[in-house]
Amino acid sequence: MLKSKDLLGIKFLSEDEILTILDLAKNMKEKINNPSLRTDELKNKSVVTLFYENSTRTKMSFMLACDYLGATPEDLGIATSSVNKGESLIDTGVTLDNMGIDAMVIRHSLTGASHLLAKNVSASVINAGDGSNEHPTQALLDMFSIMEAKGKIEGLNISIVGDIANSRVARSNAIGLSKLGANVTLAGPSTLLPKNMNVLGRNVKVVHNVEEGIKDADVVMGLRVQFERQKQVPFPNNREYHYFFGVKEDMLSLAKDDVIIMHPGPVNRGVELSSSVIDAKNSIINEQVKNGVAVRMAILDLLLKNR
Ligand code: CP
Repeated sequence: MLKSKDLLGIKFLSEDEILTILDLAKNMKEKINNPSLRTDELKNKSVVTLFYENSTRTKMSFMLACDYLGATPEDLGIATSSVNKGESLIDTGVTLDNMGIDAMVIRHSLTGASHLLAKNVSASVINAGDGSNEHPTQALLDMFSIMEAKGKIEGLNISIVGDIANSRVARSNAIGLSKLGANVTLAGPSTLLPKNMNVLGRNVKVVHNVEEGIKDADVVMGLRVQFERQKQVPFPNNREYHYFFGVKEDMLSLAKDDVIIMHPGPVNRGVELSSSVIDAKNSIINEQVKNGVAVRMAILDLLLKNR
């Protein structure tokens, strides 16, 4: 069970709640791998996705998670909805609430949009990314993937490299991984690395050099350069970014021998990671995608079963 009706950020989850989700996701992954284990645990529950920003992985994995648990997924296609006639976020949410929706999964460009929605509806609200603030379900699937690959999180050196300033994934991961006892290093160019990031957790440090960032790393997580959030261009061009701040195959000799490579996707190939790093045999990027469905099944189950 989770204390809140909503899942709005990793910062609101206790260590026990995080571990409960990761533990249940293990069972859910078995149901993905073996369809005969699936039951209609969430039959008669309805979930609507409200994506004010684009998505492939998060939206599809929530919809598949619903299917695998017997819930009914619906997508409010924002572009063709009454949002385009000027209906506010709260009025949109209250309208769906009155239709008897059990959960709303929202992605929005504004920090705090999911909090605003949660305060105004009785449905459970799940934050699928709010501006540059948090993307809690991505961090949970990342933590699950690390646990699966390494058997633990406590004591691991985890390097998150790239456009930290604009990344809700970096914030949620730094908070969550630090709660579980990892040593987190955030590395990137100073124009994409705000100074206050090390307040995110007790074991979070910030460096401006990628080589220093990935030294002795057990995990290297690349982050997408978020061109759409940048008000001014923070580096001259993609080639220079890759040259100075991209993770390349030869750099990985600085990390531990059994380092794993992660990325939340979508990837700008040849910008934040070279193609050979993305496709290397120690890359678990595709497994992260599969784990996203399992973790979202666990979250829906914990939030909705007892509603
Ligand atoms: N990682 C992630 O949130 O991907 P999408 O934007 O495709 O959902």
